[in-house]
Amino acid sequence: MDQIIELRKKANKCDNQIITLLEEKLAYVQEIVSIKKAEGQPVFDQEQEEKQLRMLMAKFSGSEFEQEFRAIFGQISACGQKVQGKAAFPYNIYLIGFMGAGKSSVAMELQRRTSLDGIEMDQVIVEQTGMTIPEIFEVNGEEYFRAIETNLLVQLQQAKHLIVSCGGGVPMRDINTEQMKKNGRIVLLSASPETIYARVKDSKDRPILNDNMNVEFITGLMEKRRSRYEEVADLTIKTDGKDVDQICEEIIAGMFAMDV
Ligand code: S3P
Repeated sequence: MDQIIELRKKANKCDNQIITLLEEKLAYVQEIVSIKKAEGQPVFDQEQEEKQLRMLMAKFSGSEFEQEFRAIFGQISACGQKVQGKAAFPYNIYLIGFMGAGKSSVAMELQRRTSLDGIEMDQVIVEQTGMTIPEIFEVNGEEYFRAIETNLLVQLQQAKHLIVSCGGGVPMRDINTEQMKKNGRIVLLSASPETIYARVKDSKDRPILNDNMNVEFITGLMEKRRSRYEEVADLTIKTDGKDVDQICEEIIAGMFAMDV
């Protein structure tokens, strides 16, 4: 019995050492991010992460605990990348822009690159209400939908380091952009009406466009919203002719440029 108590004490000491070491390691990760940001070096270097993990794997290959080490270091690496993303972006990133500007696909790729969590406002609203967006517009009206959007932004005040893909109408209300600016930066994705039309023409999920699916209507509504979008944006990215990778690179570089 005494021996077990002794061994437990030793194992416990190991845990404490692991905590101290992990704390030290994650603080180094944060420091590396701030140096890279200050020097304009790329922060998210997937190749470097993979190289590091391969080197580690080689170290414990053949060990009795190889499988366990793989699982543990896989987690440590994932957590390190998360800490890196959080250190790089100590605020929420709100993607705004007209319907079909590419907010959702860009948000997904940004999440993958930065390891940050993300939400799609429309999707959360569908989950919270149990109704589709066209149903909400039809049953309760647009004003009701706009109020839900505002409520959701208030809830997001609790969150940090989140990539938020906003519905196209979100930036039109002062109260919404006030919430967004309190804990985040706003990135506008712009595109020509022709590009937007090509992307949304087969969609039935956007009640505002359902009976107005043509370039003329899109041009008109876009003109009504343009100055507001531009006024509230901290960063604007033109997306015409660019792929998601290029857009994400421009967003990340643009955000970092704001910090120096
Ligand atoms: C809207 C945009 C939609 C959705 C709703 C209203 C708008 O979101 O919130 O149909 O007023 O521009 P997406 O921009 O994600 O399509």
